[in-house]
Amino acid sequence: VVDVRKFYAETDHFTYDPGFTSTGSCESGLTFIDGDKGILLHRGYRIEDLAANCSFLEVAHLLLNGELPNKEQKAKFDHDVTYHTMVHEQLSNFYRGFRRDAHPMAVLCGVVGALSAFYHDSTDINDPHARMVASFRLIAKMPTLAAMAYKYSIGQPFNYPKNDLTYAENFLHMMFSVPAEEYKMDPVLAKAMDRLFILHADHEQNASTSTVRLAGSSGANPFACIAAGIASLWGPAHGGANEAVLTMLNQIGHKDNINEFIKKAKDKDDPFRLMGFGHRVYKNYDPRAKVMQESCHEVLEVLGVEDPLLELAMELEKIALSDEYFVDRKLFPNVDFYSGIVLKAMGFPTSMFTVLFAVARTTGWVAQWKESIEDPQAKIGRPRQLYTGPTERPFVPLDKR
Ligand code: ACO
Repeated sequence: VVDVRKFYAETDHFTYDPGFTSTGSCESGLTFIDGDKGILLHRGYRIEDLAANCSFLEVAHLLLNGELPNKEQKAKFDHDVTYHTMVHEQLSNFYRGFRRDAHPMAVLCGVVGALSAFYHDSTDINDPHARMVASFRLIAKMPTLAAMAYKYSIGQPFNYPKNDLTYAENFLHMMFSVPAEEYKMDPVLAKAMDRLFILHADHEQNASTSTVRLAGSSGANPFACIAAGIASLWGPAHGGANEAVLTMLNQIGHKDNINEFIKKAKDKDDPFRLMGFGHRVYKNYDPRAKVMQESCHEVLEVLGVEDPLLELAMELEKIALSDEYFVDRKLFPNVDFYSGIVLKAMGFPTSMFTVLFAVARTTGWVAQWKESIEDPQAKIGRPRQLYTGPTERPFVPLDKR
């Protein structure tokens, strides 16, 4: 008879680490975070420098290939991605199977998973060329699929991608152009969109990226792995937080109500948390939140919008950062705190916020997936557990139970 209580005591090298707070699951050369100092580097470059000086596709090149591209490499990479922006016409039938009021993240989980049914020729994970083609396809098609989810939800026809536009401009076009009127491109807004994509491109082994790697470790095809990442991103503790921040700011409604919500956030018997605050790794200001805050001011200025939610958000930040509870726990605003206000001002409905995060993070997911497949030490991911059920006991036949 096995005594399961003794099993763990007698097993060598067993680590119990809920939430994997101190377990490294892989080696990675992509992203470095010093959470105490609030530093984020992609392949050695500071996120602030990349956001100020690069296009999103330059950052994608950096993450996928290890270096920032020179002019020729940039032109080729832009071309390679742009070449794949269209989706198979048959895929649009998928959308028609969904209810119009479906959450666009639900739609995205479905249509991205379905890509493997359309692009069989890039699902051989052992072929380096197929891996690269799948990477381009995913990065290129994600904005198209996301914009289609939006257009379907509002009953407008889909817009085909326009390949003379940049990645961010093309996305704005597919989202907001209508047959009667082309979307008027404002360079400040296009830059803000591009910057938002850069800020969300990769963030080491967070829940969705770990999900992509774990799914990939079994040899699943890249489209299926990214669909798994999208599902994981959806939760309000992760990518769903940008949507939750706006909902929360609307609930607070006025500066006078901030203290009441701060009190709720501190109450351990109340499940409410300040959305957009706190991070598993950052115990300092999230460097992406600073860039996002700047973007937020720029966008509102260009649009001539005076959004009381921005004022409310800044006041909430000020009050929280001078509150002992938040100071002691090192809870600072994260990237999602200001992104919702930017996106709302640009005309995105709240339900699309997490979708935009998924569009940007696809680059990181794909780069991480590729890195894991190319890692000679890679193994199928298989966490252990601490069993808490009954120890071995004799079987009881049905008539004796
Ligand atoms: N509001 C109030 N209290 C909080 C918050 C918050 N937003 N975040 C953490 N805390 C408290 C916890 O209650 C806990 O307090 P205790 O020690 O008294 O029990 C302490 O701070 C530590 O919190 P944990 O939950 O242990 O921290 P963890 O690292 O597991 O969680 C997380 C990080 C999930 C991001 C958390 O801070 C959170 O829920 N924040 C709000 C949601 C959010 O903004 N998510 C976006 C994350 S960033 C991203 O995905 C882009």
